[in-house]
Amino acid sequence: MKTAIAIDGPSGAGKSTISKLLAKELGFTYVDTGAIYRTVGVFVHRNGIDPKSAEAVSSVLDKINIEIKHIGGQQKLYLNGEDVTVAIREHIISEYASAVSAIPAVRAFLLDMQRAFAERDNVIMDGRDIGTVVLPDAEIKIFLTATDEDRARRRYEELAARGQNVPFETVLSDMRARDARDSARAVAPLVAADDAILVDTTGNTLEKSVKVIREIVSARLGELKNV
Ligand code: DC
Repeated sequence: MKTAIAIDGPSGAGKSTISKLLAKELGFTYVDTGAIYRTVGVFVHRNGIDPKSAEAVSSVLDKINIEIKHIGGQQKLYLNGEDVTVAIREHIISEYASAVSAIPAVRAFLLDMQRAFAERDNVIMDGRDIGTVVLPDAEIKIFLTATDEDRARRRYEELAARGQNVPFETVLSDMRARDARDSARAVAPLVAADDAILVDTTGNTLEKSVKVIREIVSARLGELKNV
């Protein structure tokens, strides 16, 4: 019996950094599902396809082969054999990933790949619909949030650390637009599962947020052991 921890929430709430750290501590496999949508975004961008056109994007899905490998605790993404781990982090790809993720055929295309991880390994999986759609039976579900400004500041610093100097105001407005689209879409919108524990990371240092989530996870894992 495998254990799954689902961490959902909007961008910049700290999902991936916290999930990665805890996965390492627990010896679980970390799966960043946003990276998978981003890989579809890279393909669509490179091929000059309108990411909002369900018809155009759906018609090329059979040309997209995505592989995820975990190398030295790091998740690497391959698009048709090419390592795109760095390319998926470009600012423009956030837009593309969000647009293609609203297309039902794209979500269906990626669903089994995500579920297969949880069948094989103990996982911490982060995304938008993990607790609601991908792994509705996950043993632990956490929904992470923070204010828009706090989340945009983290995204801005992340981009700057990678040498992408996008103005803060642009990061903030792009992020708001993306969150609105991710929350409003008809299929698998960004929403907390009924049984998710809500955690607001506003104003927290990373250490503080990790501590809060670690405590929730340890308590729940302890309960599960005693069942
Ligand atoms: O987590 P991220 O910012 O890298 O995700 C990029 C986009 O992918 C995000 O705007 C919405 C989409 N996404 C999704 O729809 N469902 C997921 N489980 C993960 C990401």
